[in-house]
Amino acid sequence: MQTLDDLTSEIMAGVNAATSLDALEVVRIDALGKKGRVSLMMRELGGMDPEERKAAGQALNAVKDRIAAAIETRQEALSRAALDERLAAEAIDVSLPARPETEARLHPLSRTIEEVVAIFAEMGFTVAEGPDIESDYYNFTALNIPEEHPARQEHDTFYLPPNAEGRRKVLRTHTSPVQVRTMEATEPPIRIIVPGRTYRSDHDATHSPMFHQCEGLVIGDGIHMGHLKGCLIDFCRAFFGVDDLPVRFRPSYFPFTEPSAEVDIGCTRDGGGLKIGAGDDWLEILGSGMVNPRVLANCGYDPEKYQGFAFGMGIERIAMLKYGIPDLRTFYDSDLRWMRHYGFLPFDAPSVHAGLAGGSV
Ligand code: DAH
Repeated sequence: MQTLDDLTSEIMAGVNAATSLDALEVVRIDALGKKGRVSLMMRELGGMDPEERKAAGQALNAVKDRIAAAIETRQEALSRAALDERLAAEAIDVSLPARPETEARLHPLSRTIEEVVAIFAEMGFTVAEGPDIESDYYNFTALNIPEEHPARQEHDTFYLPPNAEGRRKVLRTHTSPVQVRTMEATEPPIRIIVPGRTYRSDHDATHSPMFHQCEGLVIGDGIHMGHLKGCLIDFCRAFFGVDDLPVRFRPSYFPFTEPSAEVDIGCTRDGGGLKIGAGDDWLEILGSGMVNPRVLANCGYDPEKYQGFAFGMGIERIAMLKYGIPDLRTFYDSDLRWMRHYGFLPFDAPSVHAGLAGGSV
């Protein structure tokens, strides 16, 4: 019969030779399983006389423990190797280029709104919103544009069918009604900007029936024209990324502001080209003014106590100027080649600091 030592070395060799967890399990069952070789030798102990049985039993138990320990060590080594192999096989190659279909672009209008919001957020403004379908009161009357006012005709308004009382809602022609809604709902101080969709019945290379505006409103105690000028000069310079951009305030008229001013920035036009910055020409960018005391009163504020300024700009217009987009209608064509050309990679976030510092944007 095989000696215990021979059997042990044979089993140990089997353990070390096992190259997979499955192979090791076969060795284990063959040695220590119910009908395994060590177990069978255990059974033979029964037929021995007591002296012999004691010595053989101890020897067998020691062998059993050694084999079990060796199997466990081998098992751990094989598990680790299997895990390493799996990790190596599943590793992600970060140097691979992204799949082309995941390279979406941010629309220049979304990007422009993000930039405008980021610049005003730095100055402490928060974003407010209002409905696209507006009452005549908020869109016109509360803003000091009464029924017979010529400004109503200028707006080319889209009217909805009248309700039972004969009142017609409108698609808001500007973002200014959100001024009124905000003043009605809150107490000063107010510092909001309102980006949003607006609608007018108009369609050519510089007009679309749906377009975007961004409104601004500041209300407080002792707000004056100097605040308006400082705020809008900073904005224009940050947005166009030109530190010494000339900004001009030209007297104008809006029913909801008094006095009112249109804001122009300096530019040069040569041979059809347009360059923003110091030059001999001007470009209109936005409308602004001190909030008309009548509007403050319509919103329940005491005009003796509070003053404020407001402004409004067309998002398409400033996007076209900044990014050199010649035709406004192309914003809505959903042409992927156009998007690839004029769009932005989503991770290329607008940098407010670069803008405010006058760095190139
Ligand atoms: N609501 C004006 C428009 O649509 C723009 C505007 C001008 C807004 C002056 C203002 C402002 O708040 O003060 O043409």
